[in-house]
Amino acid sequence: MTTSRTPLIAGNWKMNGATAEAVALARAVAAGTAAGCELLVCPPTVLIPPVAAALKGGAVAVGGQDCHFAESGAHTGDIAAVMLADAGCSHVILGHSERRADHGESDALVCAKTEAAHAAGLIAIVCVGETLAERDGGETLARISSQIEGSLPAAVTAENTVIAYEPVWAIGTGRTPTAADVEEVHTHIRGDIERRFGAGVAGGIRILYGGSMKPSNAGELLAIDGVDGGLIGGASLKAEDFLAIAASCP
Ligand code: PGA
Repeated sequence: MTTSRTPLIAGNWKMNGATAEAVALARAVAAGTAAGCELLVCPPTVLIPPVAAALKGGAVAVGGQDCHFAESGAHTGDIAAVMLADAGCSHVILGHSERRADHGESDALVCAKTEAAHAAGLIAIVCVGETLAERDGGETLARISSQIEGSLPAAVTAENTVIAYEPVWAIGTGRTPTAADVEEVHTHIRGDIERRFGAGVAGGIRILYGGSMKPSNAGELLAIDGVDGGLIGGASLKAEDFLAIAASCP
């Protein structure tokens, strides 16, 4: 890992929790120590205000799990990036494979959402990842390249964007790619970023690994060259596990 990139350990709480347990989880995370890495929690949208209030003034950041591409308007059920910022968020996860699968989100839509996030002053965590069929078919790198190309707008910088590489088949399954496979994809992504945005952006942008990261495998995954942190689902719902992952940052 290049030391100039501070690792980011991000918890994606997905559609879990109610107010009391979310606030308790946030407080337990904030009470822990995470020397040398940044911590972020991404609660379900309605739980953002109480979690943001519980974390106010501390070192743990709050993020959304999605946003709309428009600033406001007739979009029933959607949330604008500016609303997330207003509620205390500094980050937003975009293009998660569950959004791409459950809601048919295309790369172009993810790109528009990323632009909206940037306009609202949020750091976009843009997710990419291959399915098992794509991996088995030897299409992983091509698939990742097309997602990177289509999902990132021209104004990407190392400060306003984080990439999360999440193999779809590794999410919530307990399966993880080999260290060599993770390193190959991260190197490939950084190469794509360098060709499009230049060496400065490529050298500074953080590329997280996500998919069944837990305390027992975090040390190995986070030590891989080019892995700058993790996007954690299941294991982020227990403060002890989340903090143990953070403590594994090299
Ligand atoms: P998981 O989820 O850690 O439960 O595999 C990761 C994610 O979907 O971001």
